[in-house]
Amino acid sequence: MIDTHIHLYDPDFDTDRDAVVSRARAVGVSAMVLASVSEKEYDAMLHVEAQYPDYCYASIGLQPEELTDLAAQMSWVEQGLKSRRWIAIGEVGLDYHFDTSRAAEQREAFRQQIRWALDYDLPLLIHSRDAFADTLQILQEHKSSRLRGVMHCYSGSAEWAREILKCGDFYFGIGGVVTFKNAKLPGILPSLGLDRLLLETDAPYLAPTPHRGQRNESAYLTLVAQKIAEVFDITPEEVSARTDNNAKRLLKL
Ligand code: NI
Repeated sequence: MIDTHIHLYDPDFDTDRDAVVSRARAVGVSAMVLASVSEKEYDAMLHVEAQYPDYCYASIGLQPEELTDLAAQMSWVEQGLKSRRWIAIGEVGLDYHFDTSRAAEQREAFRQQIRWALDYDLPLLIHSRDAFADTLQILQEHKSSRLRGVMHCYSGSAEWAREILKCGDFYFGIGGVVTFKNAKLPGILPSLGLDRLLLETDAPYLAPTPHRGQRNESAYLTLVAQKIAEVFDITPEEVSARTDNNAKRLLKL
């Protein structure tokens, strides 16, 4: 299994990060993608990546809710991109859930970071909440055979997924939400198809049932794989193998 979206540098893990990584390895998690949020967590993220070489891979990008100073933060991403190689650009996108006062700036940051993903030939980790229409429109503007990425924590419809897939080589990140009681997500997994799914935790957030509400960690991916296996009527091992292949293809791991 590959955890394609985790915030392992979060202070929630400061007291037992080694144990969290050991438990992940013990259940077969072979790699983790550290999703960037903003310049504030940058040093902590790079520190964690260096602690777990050939296991944790850092991305760079500005999460839309963290937007405070567009010019300065885009300059931070640009300098970062020039300074080294990254696994992906993200998490980037649009979030209108709590605040739409910076919606126009969010769109500008998203467009800029998509252009860089194309320039640097990197996949995008896309965060989209209460902003599906605008997210889709911006992806359509950049439609290309080279455009690729993952819709992190996918919560959209099957129809919307079909439109996204027309824009480039896209995957859908599936995490703890799929295990929640009354979740709609299991119902649309068959129309997404196993070849388009990636496993992710978004830890420390969104722990799967029966840990819902507690701190999440990569070892719980077994619960996510188990649920996906039930939906497709296959074994969890097959889910791991297929989603690993998808992740390796997208991330060039
Ligand atoms: Ni995240």
